[in-house]
Amino acid sequence: MGLEKIGHLCPGFLGAGLLFFIGGMTLCMAQGNIHYYEFVLKESNFTRLCSTKSILTVNGSFPGPVIRVHKGDTVFVNVHNHGYYGATIHWHGVKQPRNPWSDGPEFITQCPIEPGTNFTYEVTFTTEEGTLWWHAHSEWTRATVHGAIVVLPAAGTVYPFPKPDEEEVIVLACWYKRDLRQMVEQAIATGDDTPRSDAYTFNGQPGDLCPCSNETSYRMLVDYGKAYLLRIVNAGMNAPFFFSIANHTITLVGLDAAYVKPVTSTYLVISPGQTMDVLVTANQTPSHYYMAARQYSSTEPDILFFDHVNATAILQYRGNYTPPSSPFFPSSTLPSYKDFIAAANFTTRFRSLASLEHPTNVPQNATTRMFIVVSMGLVSNSSWNGINGDGSKLASSMNNISWVNPPIDVLMAYYRNISGIYEADFPNDPPSSYNYTGQDLSIDTLLPMKGTKVKVLEYNETVEIVFQGTNVLAEVHPMHLHGHSFYVIGTGIGNFDEETDPKGYNLVDPPLVNTLAVPQEGWATVRFMANNPGVWFMHCHYDRHLTWGMDFAFIVKNGDTSSRSMRHPPAYMPPCTASAADHSLRLFDFSDEKLNTFFRT
Ligand code: C2O
Ligand code: CU
Repeated sequence: MGLEKIGHLCPGFLGAGLLFFIGGMTLCMAQGNIHYYEFVLKESNFTRLCSTKSILTVNGSFPGPVIRVHKGDTVFVNVHNHGYYGATIHWHGVKQPRNPWSDGPEFITQCPIEPGTNFTYEVTFTTEEGTLWWHAHSEWTRATVHGAIVVLPAAGTVYPFPKPDEEEVIVLACWYKRDLRQMVEQAIATGDDTPRSDAYTFNGQPGDLCPCSNETSYRMLVDYGKAYLLRIVNAGMNAPFFFSIANHTITLVGLDAAYVKPVTSTYLVISPGQTMDVLVTANQTPSHYYMAARQYSSTEPDILFFDHVNATAILQYRGNYTPPSSPFFPSSTLPSYKDFIAAANFTTRFRSLASLEHPTNVPQNATTRMFIVVSMGLVSNSSWNGINGDGSKLASSMNNISWVNPPIDVLMAYYRNISGIYEADFPNDPPSSYNYTGQDLSIDTLLPMKGTKVKVLEYNETVEIVFQGTNVLAEVHPMHLHGHSFYVIGTGIGNFDEETDPKGYNLVDPPLVNTLAVPQEGWATVRFMANNPGVWFMHCHYDRHLTWGMDFAFIVKNGDTSSRSMRHPPAYMPPCTASAADHSLRLFDFSDEKLNTFFRT
């Protein structure tokens, strides 16, 4: 446990605690512990791939500190910004019931924490159990500002599988040799693709196969015969990963902090934003074995511009034996970069546990249906040079709308009834239907409109969303929803068929997740109950698509009682300022006119 954790209350009440403040006294009641963490955002020097650079970190570590709790606990994290730019932190996959004020995405639920100031998040754990993570939710800072969250079963309860002997957190991420912010700024200015990483990392280390890296490769030491729980996080910016361990099979038991029926495999595929709990038994000849990860590149086979690095860590048995000259590599089990079939074969096996202790609650019907086309596209403006010298830039959209961050957060505008910040007319359908995955798409399917449009939901509505991918620069889109998890009831390739495809829906034991990889040129259907009042971001978890506008937000209205309504804001929220609003690293900005309206002195 690092210094960042400064203490917790209710030591005698593992697993339970409502906190009552009675005349200055703190009492604990059955409901969960309270923990306090201090997160200092600061620049620190790191040397990777033979060169040294300064990166933004939490408490000087990369990846950042692990938050460890039991189900039902509450964590207060005081974030001090000692960096150069405003920033926020998001608790990915933590539902934060009734409390969007602590959710974190900048310009959605708060304005950035400016340098020299601090803000305390209240992170409330309720139904989540397994592995989640936290990350910065401002521009591209999450590249280095992220860490795992471990949610253990509540006291008196157990894992729905034999208790592993030990566990290990594995955070997969990207390393960029040059200044990421500068490169992204430049990409936005030219309209070109955003930067490609120089290596992928295992707990911060690229591993033996990368230059100047073999001294520091990450090693996981194991004892022969023991069972291990790996908590794997994909903190990568734009890449799903294949992962495999030489000679060892793995068993997936949890996904996005919800249990699944065990899936035994020789590899896995994990998208940005996803977290997986995996069991592995050290049952092979004691030796050194590589755990390896490489990008699953879901773009067309002829697109080879991606980071081809094989990141590795070493699964190393303890004991007396002569180690091999080099660890075994999972050559026969780690799928190759473009292995679409391997990816699909793994992800279509997910089923929720649906047991007595871990039941499902799948909405059998929907009161709101949305069909959302998620697509890449182009925008043009005669004043730009653009990628082809024709004034066009890469963009992304949902139902043809490319998201524009507002100058003050949507949540505050909603709570205080400030007009002119967002429009409540995000459409349930695309402006026109076409052959989304066809070969020759007409030019208007490429041209999104910009807007800050939200979808308003009544409390407790059951929502169904069909996400439809397109053939425009087709790629997997890991769609992530804040404040809720959703059931993935169906998925397929090509255009969604509203007659036949619903017949195949799984309404019995579909996986419950917060991030869903919509297959390239395919579709996926999710359902959830809008039982969390507040403002909740929905976006693609590739930062390049987020930057280009593949985002929107839900507003879930209050229910009829105060316990079904949003909480009031804490006494202090980071103030919104014109300069913070102006900084946002986005393809689209709101107009200067709007900026002036809201920050006129
Ligand atoms: Cu991992 Cu909007 O977040
Ligand atoms: Cu995407």
